Amino acid sequence: MAPKHFLDIAAIDPSALKEILARSHALKKDLSAKPLADRAVAMIFEKSSTRTRVSFERGIWQLGGQPIVMATGDMQLGRSETPADTARVLSRLVDAIMIRANRHSDVQELAAHATVPVINGLTDRSHPCQIMADLQTVEEAVGTLRDLRMAWLGDGNNVCHSFIEAARAFNFHLSIATPAERRPDAEILAGAGNHASWSADPKIAAKGADIVVTDTWISMGDEGNKPTLLSLLGPYQVDESLMSLAQPEARFLHCLPAYRGMEVTAQVIDGPQSLVFDEAENRLHAQKAILEWCLS
Ligand code: CP
Ligand code: NVA
Repeated sequence: MAPKHFLDIAAIDPSALKEILARSHALKKDLSAKPLADRAVAMIFEKSSTRTRVSFERGIWQLGGQPIVMATGDMQLGRSETPADTARVLSRLVDAIMIRANRHSDVQELAAHATVPVINGLTDRSHPCQIMADLQTVEEAVGTLRDLRMAWLGDGNNVCHSFIEAARAFNFHLSIATPAERRPDAEILAGAGNHASWSADPKIAAKGADIVVTDTWISMGDEGNKPTLLSLLGPYQVDESLMSLAQPEARFLHCLPAYRGMEVTAQVIDGPQSLVFDEAENRLHAQKAILEWCLS
């Protein structure tokens, strides 16, 4: 039987995504499930991480499993062993693989050759585990996702892409505002149909939103482009005046790490509308549900 990979939101049936989300809520309340007993999960990091590393490692322990954490600099993968051979070897030794990689194509190659599930822990294209935690956080705060109006402000890259894919699967609308130079991928945007729309105007996106979301302006790998990104993204800062265009009860999300005074002001991220630390905690619960689904 083909392994159940978790590579992208759009690659998974919406009914399975909804089951995973329901399990995330249940697992948050009940620590007794041990579906990973006597199983091991390899975690590969080609980029830095705080939340993904700790939430996966803790979650694997809580589910009864053994996490094995590796930085690519310590692995033969970092010395040009192929993702395909890495997948074949790890599939003989562990029960699932989580990977954070520079190139999405490397994760696809790993998954194509693995006989155990592969989970995408962030690539240049997407960050699906983050979005499952975000959706759990919104459901907790608002009670539903259906027909919500969410606004994405800033850079239209990996986290934005997974949000776009979630809009269709979970029946909400995502209004995106990015500079034209940092528009989300056209194919991903088209895939959302009328569940996502783009404009260059942050006020259009924020107007009437139930949820306002942003991300760092300098993603991992974009450091060399910092001066250009700062000047392009300046008008998209989420501040109190932008939040005042959203619903009075609007909530604020940010996957973290955050840079106060850049993509968001301290008043917003540290203010009463912010859900960012619930969001960070929910990485644990959402990823436990993802692991359980992958290994079921
Ligand atoms: N949001 C997120 O993925 O955080 P880390 O980079 O710390 O894992
Ligand atoms: N877009 C950011 C997300 C970090 C979790 C990055 O890729 O660095």
